[in-house]
Amino acid sequence: MAKDYESWTKEELVEEIEELRRKKRFGLVWEDKEEEDVTRLKFDLPILIEDLSKQINSKNSLRNNMILEGDNYQALSALNYTHQNSIDFIYADPPYNTGSKDWRYNNNYIDSEDPYRHTKWISFMSRRLRLAKELLKEDGVICVTIDDYELPRLWLLMEQIFGEANHLGTVVIRNNPKGRMTKRKFSLTHEYALFFGKTSDSKIKRIPQNPEDKSHNYEKDENGEWFLPTNLRKQGVDSSAKTKDGKLHQRYFPIYYHPKKNLISLERGKDFVELLPVDTKGLKRRWKTSKEDLAEKFNSGEIFVKENKKTGWQVYYKFRGGLEGRLPLSIWTNSEFSASDYGTKIVDTILGEREQFQYPKAPEAVKECINSVINKKDGIVLDFFAGSGTTAQAVLELNEEDGGNRRFILCTNNDNNIAEDICYKRVKNVIRGYNDFQGKKRKKHETNLKYYKINFLKRGNTDSDKLLLAKNSIDLIQIKEDAHQKDISNDAFTILKGNKNDVIIIFEILSIDKIKEIIKKSKKEFSVYVFSLCEEDFTDYFCELKNVKKITSFPEPIIRSFESVL
Ligand SMILES: C[S@@+](CC[C@H](N)C(=O)[O-])C[C@H]1O[C@@H](n2cnc3c(N)ncnc32)[C@H](O)[C@@H]1O
Repeated sequence: MAKDYESWTKEELVEEIEELRRKKRFGLVWEDKEEEDVTRLKFDLPILIEDLSKQINSKNSLRNNMILEGDNYQALSALNYTHQNSIDFIYADPPYNTGSKDWRYNNNYIDSEDPYRHTKWISFMSRRLRLAKELLKEDGVICVTIDDYELPRLWLLMEQIFGEANHLGTVVIRNNPKGRMTKRKFSLTHEYALFFGKTSDSKIKRIPQNPEDKSHNYEKDENGEWFLPTNLRKQGVDSSAKTKDGKLHQRYFPIYYHPKKNLISLERGKDFVELLPVDTKGLKRRWKTSKEDLAEKFNSGEIFVKENKKTGWQVYYKFRGGLEGRLPLSIWTNSEFSASDYGTKIVDTILGEREQFQYPKAPEAVKECINSVINKKDGIVLDFFAGSGTTAQAVLELNEEDGGNRRFILCTNNDNNIAEDICYKRVKNVIRGYNDFQGKKRKKHETNLKYYKINFLKRGNTDSDKLLLAKNSIDLIQIKEDAHQKDISNDAFTILKGNKNDVIIIFEILSIDKIKEIIKKSKKEFSVYVFSLCEEDFTDYFCELKNVKKITSFPEPIIRSFESVL
């Protein structure tokens, strides 16, 4: 975050200058361009207020998804209170900064004539990516899509923020198979998806290998266990039968085989054929195993001989590994990943109106991104450039396909009413079920949706500022605790029923005794928030209640979480 040099002493400033001179510069350097949506937060706190008219509730699901309407820097700042270290996967599809006025900075569209267009884009992205990183779990992964215009700068920026070692790969996605016309360049058929982990615990998921799959040559042995028949003859580096000093390697020796009796031995015998590690070109190689180890394996049945039409009798061993799955490949050409064929058409069908949104992603491409990293079926997926809401559709469809419980959080601004008229409407229609463009009926999804708008409160340190913030923090606490159902709500306290535990928010300290009685009678666990102007510790008040698992005074932690992001 930008440093507040105004408040530094002369000595601190001199030290900073010396430190900057000492640092060797390699990589991306840019002049930070101020942004109104960001500087506003020096004076105002962004809070989330639910628009209850847009709530969608399902009787059969506890799963809560969210759409946040507003600038995503402000939304990410609010999520820093509710979701720090909680997100499994972030999908971000920012404006590509093509020069064709595809995004606004300080309310001005950026065109190709703007000499600061790259600087502005990098400043904009840098602030958001830094906040987004705070929200990821330790093993979380972020995927940012981009095309040629900003790929070089984005890649360096992501290395700066997430670390070169956490680069999990850059996937090339064929998103426009027919190619985009240019005046004098190649016709572009692809874009990129940059995957970075938060720490060394973040991983790309292996695709499970199914040995029954015809593309593998695995066989089942008499115990029903899978193995891959693998030639015992060594290939490649260090496979020659000759050692460096010209002698024969000790792993060049004959193995004897009796075809009729199917016997293998290291001793020559009557009717046994001699088998040597000689390759298809007649070159002498060595075996992969020593004589001593082989003798043992003959007895356990792990070595066998099979006749190959071209190369005659060959010695094989049963390779038992390789079934832990393979890593996904880095070029994706599935026709359903084509945004030009499946993006707009799908959105138009769901909205029942034509061409409401330019360049939405193909849901299958987003599903593949999510599926490449989230191992669990109940992770939280965040998309802070949600646009038409493709990520929500991808998450809902993945859940339907594998019975998962993934949840989504979407953030989008409301430029040209996209948050309400496109994103919300699309998500609502997908949840309620619709007929797709091939006329197939898509089922209703059992899930809940909450819609929040960003609101602002003046930053201030007076008692009334703190009380006002506390009164307006109920939505933030509800989101943090995933406890949305109001059981009791009055001026003194609010009780919320939650998915993990129930929550009590206390404004009036004199009501504590009454609240303790309620907690005593309940079998549920509680998280308790107590309003305090000076962050008092209320632990002693509740120490005899075993079902109180957390006591927090507020709003001080909320104020602190906003300070840490500026
Ligand atoms: C490339 S589009 C994303 C499209 C999306 N992946 C889809 O499939 O529909 C980028 C979106 O980010 C939104 N956006 C741009 N700047 C934003 C900001 N500062 N805060 C929130 N949303 C923003 C734009 O309105 C635009 O809809």
